[in-house]
Formats: sequence, structure tokens, C-alpha cells
Amino acid sequence: MRWQEACLLGCWLSLCAAESFFACPSSCKCNSGILEVDCSGLGLSSIPSDIPTNTRTFLFLNNKLSILPGPVFSNLSALQRLDLSNNFLDQLPQNIFSDLGNLTELQLRNNSIRALDKDLLQHTALLRQLDLSINGLAHIPSGIFDDLPALRSLSLRSNRLQSLDRVTFEPLTNLQQLQVGDNPWECDCNLRDFKHWMEWFSYRGGKIDQLACTLPKELKGKDMRMVPMEMFNYCSQLDDENSSTVLDNTGPPCTKGSPTPSKTKLGPEPEVEPSVGCPQKQRYRPVSVRRAIGTVIIAGVVCGIVCIMMVVAAAYGCIYASLMAKYHRELKKRQPLMGDTEGEHEEQKQISSVA
Ligand SMILES: *[C@@H]1O[C@H](CO)[C@@H](O)[C@H](O)[C@H]1NC(C)=O
Ligand SMILES: *[C@@H]1O[C@H](CO)[C@@H](O)[C@H](O)[C@H]1NC(C)=O
Ligand SMILES: *[C@@H]1O[C@H](CO)[C@@H](O)[C@H](O)[C@H]1NC(C)=O
Ligand SMILES: *[C@@H]1O[C@H](CO)[C@@H](O)[C@H](O)[C@H]1NC(C)=O
Repeated sequence: MRWQEACLLGCWLSLCAAESFFACPSSCKCNSGILEVDCSGLGLSSIPSDIPTNTRTFLFLNNKLSILPGPVFSNLSALQRLDLSNNFLDQLPQNIFSDLGNLTELQLRNNSIRALDKDLLQHTALLRQLDLSINGLAHIPSGIFDDLPALRSLSLRSNRLQSLDRVTFEPLTNLQQLQVGDNPWECDCNLRDFKHWMEWFSYRGGKIDQLACTLPKELKGKDMRMVPMEMFNYCSQLDDENSSTVLDNTGPPCTKGSPTPSKTKLGPEPEVEPSVGCPQKQRYRPVSVRRAIGTVIIAGVVCGIVCIMMVVAAAYGCIYASLMAKYHRELKKRQPLMGDTEGEHEEQKQISSVA
């Protein structure tokens, strides 16, 4: 039938048009239906320059990309998914993603990125998924997530992070999933506020994987979320000290306290005392003062009781002695003869013995 032929021709023509409109870069694989360009695993060290401008998905995994020239994505404003995982990127120019206003998913997994610019993600307001796992990040600059209100999933797994700032994460109001595992976390005062944020995040229904402490060694392997907040009470003491007059702060730097009541020590070894000038020591001073006062009171009471008992005993002794003396005198008065005869007997005995 004629209408069938017409349709076939039309279909073929439109396909042709789409194909020609979506010209695949050489050696890459393309899916014009979903506007996807896949240049993965080709050993490439640079991004092809002839990527169609209407590309929605660009995959560039398992290549040898180490440098991204600034304007390399500037014509790809339709891009929604960008995957640069398993490359050797170590630096990202500040404006590298600034033309990708439609980007919703950015994968930078398994590169060598050691630092991020605070303004790197300033123009990607639709980003929902960001994977920065397996890199060398030691620090997340605060402000970097300020313009990502849509972000739902963020991975910072397997980096070199020791601490995170609460304020960095506060703008992520739609975050649902956060991965922070496999980092050398230092569970000290610097991480306390982030712990607060994590608790709020979990309460809100967010999912977070294990944040296992590496330091201090007393908390090694423990999940920061399970460490009681009381362990960080000494931090507020630090804050207080800073805000108030700076007194005896000249001592050696304070070693972090050992807040581990769960670990019972075997020997009779006393609790590890924080070094001199530690805030912990100062914090406990009022308690010891109170204890000292208590000791003085108890000692005074005991002394008083002992003194009263001694006085009573002495008085009793005096009374007893005088009573006995009186009794003896009266006894002697009543039986003067008995005493005399005894004397005679003794005299007789003495005489006989002499004889
Ligand atoms: C972007 O497109 C313009 C005009 O088509 C072109 O001159 C320029 O080289 C392209 N830039 C890149 C990085 O491909
Ligand atoms: C999103 O992509 C469309 C083309 O699909 C483009 O016209 C538009 O400018 C892009 N939006 C932004 C914010 O870049
Ligand atoms: C990371 O990338 C390198 C090189 O691209 C690859 O050999 C390695 O298997 C990747 N590692 C992971 C965990 O994906
Ligand atoms: C306390 O003061 C020191 C400098 O005296 C400063 O380095 C530190 O960041 C301050 N800490 C807090 C919590 O304010």
C-alpha cells in the first residue's frame, strides 16, 4: 500500500535526520535515541572536540584523562549526565562545569582529585547526584555545596578526609544519601558539630554509611554516630576558654583526653590523666574542691566525736577513781581490826622467817 511506503520513507528520513543531527565522534559509541555518547575504555587522554551539542549523556570512563582544559564542556549545555570515572584527573579548573546548567548527575569516581575549588559547582543548580569517591580529597571547602539545593546523593567515600564542617552541608536541604566511609576520620572537637548535623540528617530520614574513627586511638574503629555526645563535653570547655579571659594557656599543647569509660583497664593503673594545662583538669577542679570541703567536714566531725569520747572517758575515769578511793577509805574505817590482825600475822611471818 502506498501509505505504508510513505510511512517507511518518512521514518527512514527522520532517522536519517536524527543521525545526521547527532553525529557520533569517531571511535565512540552513540545512542541517538537517548542522545548518549559513550567514549569509555578507549585509552583516550583528551575529550573529543566533536561531541554533538545536544548530547544528554556523556560517558568517558576508564580512560587516561589527566587534564581538563577549561572550555572543554562549554558547548554542551544540554548535558544531563557526565561520567569521568576511572581516569587520572587531579585538578579541575574552577569554571569547568559552569556551562552545564542542565547537569543532574556528575561522576568523578576513582580519579586523583586532591582539592576542589569552592566555586566549582556554582552553576549546576539541578545536580542531583555527585560522586567524588576514591580520590585524594583531604578537605571539602565550605561553600562548595551552597548552590546545590537539588542534590540528593553525595559520595565522599575513600578519600583522605579527617574532618568535615557542618556549615558545608547545611545548604543540602534535599540530601537523602551521604557516603563518608573509608576516610581517616579524626573524632575530636572539629568533628563534633558535624556529628550534630549527622544526627539531624538521620532524624530527617537521610541515609549515611559508617563514619568510623581513626583517631584518637581510644575511638579507633568506632562509628562516630555511636560515640555519646558527652564525650565531646570538653570541647565546649575549650570554646568557653577562648571566649573568656585567656588564663594559664601558656602550657604545652593539650593532648586530647581519653574519653573511654567503656574500656576497663586490667591493672590498677589510674585513669590516664590529660597533660598539664588540660581543660579537662580545670573542668574537674570545682568537683575536687567540693570533695576537699567534704573531707574537711567529715574529718572535723570524726575528730569532734573522738574528742568528746575522750573527755567522757577521762571524766568517767576520774569519777570512778574518786569513787573507788572513797569506798576504800570507808572500808578501812569500818574494819580497822582486820587490818591490825593482818599486820600482826605479817609480823609473825616475818619473825618466823627470820627465826
Ligand atoms: C563550541 O562551539 C563553537 C561554535 O560552534 C566553536 O567555535 C567552538 O570551538 C566550540 N567549542 C568547543 C570547546 O568545542
Ligand atoms: C538545558 O538544555 C537546553 C537544551 O536541551 C538548553 O536550551 C538550555 O539552555 C539548557 N539550560 C541551561 C541552564 O543551560
Ligand atoms: C581505578 O582506576 C584505575 C585506572 O583507571 C583502575 O585500574 C582501577 O581498577 C580503578 N579502581 C577502582 C576501585 O575502580
Ligand atoms: C581558640 O583560640 C585559638 C587562638 O587563640 C584559635 O586558634 C582557635 O581556633 C580558637 N578556637 C575556638 C573554638 O574558637
